[in-house]
Amino acid sequence: MAIESASLAPLPAAAEAALFERFATALRDPGWAVVPDALPPALGAALLEHVVALDDDEFVRAGIGRQAERATNDFVRRNAICWISGDCPPTRAWVEFAARLRAHLNRSLMLGLFSFESHFAHYPVGGFYKRHVDAFRGETNRVVSLVTYLNPGWAPHDGGELVLYPAGGPDAGVTVTPAFGTVVLFLSEEIPHEVLPARRPRRSIAGWYRVRALDGTCPD
Ligand code: OGA
Ligand code: MN
Repeated sequence: MAIESASLAPLPAAAEAALFERFATALRDPGWAVVPDALPPALGAALLEHVVALDDDEFVRAGIGRQAERATNDFVRRNAICWISGDCPPTRAWVEFAARLRAHLNRSLMLGLFSFESHFAHYPVGGFYKRHVDAFRGETNRVVSLVTYLNPGWAPHDGGELVLYPAGGPDAGVTVTPAFGTVVLFLSEEIPHEVLPARRPRRSIAGWYRVRALDGTCPD
């Protein structure tokens, strides 16, 4: 227990603050950041060990809505997700990492981020997620998206890249290799993005910070 918690300890405060400030600066302008090796390696390793040990039936097909929407959904997105509750040491350390980042972003950017939710995502061979935005402008909704990857040794021919399409950015988009420990942060309403088909099983964590609704409730 002691060893486990020690290995999941946060980075030294100064190093973590420097990392978080890098995210805050990039979020202000241009609205997105891609930082390789930003996830503390021990945390990434523990999360990977945790997620590979989860039973397949803990994962649900992503975005399954009403039966009638199912065919469309398969066309847009083929992956499986497992929501993170933070009830074991690796996921608790992840949720706490995200909470410290939230506090930093709120201090630096006055974003008023209120809550965080995240899930593991598993893209099988051939899995993808077509171009989408994570939130719709004007709704009290997802404000900042946070993604990280748990794929050791990801090679260029493994595909599965995340492509960000920042407004006014390069038409071709910004291509992100889903390499172990890379952390991506972007404004949920501003940045369309897609996941290209993976040629080997691909694991990520996707999370979202939300603001509080005007009536004081936290939206689902
Ligand atoms: C998402 C998403 C990106 C990724 O789950 O909404 O865009 O690279 N994920 O896994
Ligand atoms: Mn998305």
